[in-house]
Amino acid sequence: MAGAAELLAGLAVPAVLVAPDTSLLVANLAAENFLNASQQALAERGWSAAFGPDSIVEGLVARARREGGGCAAFDVTLAFPGGRHARADVLVSPVGEAPDWLTVAFQTRSVATLVDRQVVQQGAARSAVGVAAMLAHEIKNPLSGIRGAAQLLRASQSEEGQELTDLIVAEVDRIAKLVDRMESFTDTRPLRLRPENIHEVLGHVRRVAEQGFAQGIRIVERYDPSLPLVAANRDALVQVFLNLLKNAAEATGKNGKIRITTAFRPGLKVRAGGRGAAVSLPLEVRVIDDGPGIPADLGDHVFEPFVSSKRGGSGLGLALVAKIVADHGGLVEYERIGDPGETVFRVLLPITHEPRAKDPR
Ligand SMILES: Nc1ncnc2c1ncn2[C@@H]1O[C@H](COP(=O)(O)OP(=O)(O)OP(=O)(O)O)[C@@H](O)[C@H]1O
Ligand SMILES: [Mg+2]
Repeated sequence: MAGAAELLAGLAVPAVLVAPDTSLLVANLAAENFLNASQQALAERGWSAAFGPDSIVEGLVARARREGGGCAAFDVTLAFPGGRHARADVLVSPVGEAPDWLTVAFQTRSVATLVDRQVVQQGAARSAVGVAAMLAHEIKNPLSGIRGAAQLLRASQSEEGQELTDLIVAEVDRIAKLVDRMESFTDTRPLRLRPENIHEVLGHVRRVAEQGFAQGIRIVERYDPSLPLVAANRDALVQVFLNLLKNAAEATGKNGKIRITTAFRPGLKVRAGGRGAAVSLPLEVRVIDDGPGIPADLGDHVFEPFVSSKRGGSGLGLALVAKIVADHGGLVEYERIGDPGETVFRVLLPITHEPRAKDPR
């Protein structure tokens, strides 16, 4: 079966080779990622370790054996041990030269959904650009007038009146800050990308978070030290992870726990905007918190501007994250995993093989 095994290894879709005695023999790299298990573990522990007991996949393999041909199930939900779920098409086919041997290939839905979502995110980012440009022009200028007038009034007021003018100034400042944040959207110039070390970016973000909004929260890092450099704009990426960490901190609350992980996933390719050549987004950063997750009524809208469940929240954090990640040609998505459950924000970014400049800035 050497030929089939080599063929599998070269495939970008997750695929496993099944021996005539129905043991799982060879899994390609994409399948190891998809099943979250190493080739060795799969070969040793077999079907139920990979897919849980009485899985759909095992059933399909049994059917293919019974009927002596190939068979498939489309858009099924696979429940993996440990509570993880994935949607995929599962295709079982006999190996041409040796029909007792089968291949099982998975066409993952998440890639299809990821592409859809990227299109939605770009749309959300674009609509935010228009709103932001309008706000910046129409609101910011009159604001300084209101602020100045309130300060002038203050001098002629009693203590009670001064409290009110102070309130006006404070609220005007709050609006001005909001508009400043919105202005990040109006910049539609392409980002200047340079080779950056993602772990340095994350380390910086972590320090900033610990000084401020994440005080008292435990932040655990699990990094893949061999990661290549990312093609990124450092300041913009800092904003991305600050926003994700801030949301995680707000969700988990005091004494909570946040995990930041990085990994290299060479199998994942995404077609930008659903069109053109597929680009590889192998660098994965996950920000995970043990909070209650996104409220159900916000659903898929959290990446749109002004969507917020928080008192005083502007709903701009994730919209900005989506815009910046899209500007990097990357992808961000939300997932709820496990039981009792964790909230995962996954950012996928392209890598670069260029070396870092001596004087990066
Ligand atoms: N880690 C998370 N856990 C639970 N819910 C989240 C998480 N991240 C985001 N959300 C939900 O998504 C909404 C939108 O997030 P976003 O960061 O865009 O805005 P915000 O945090 O409400 O306000 P801002 O970031 O502008 O202060 C949040 O109000 C919250 O309901
Ligand atoms: Mg936020």
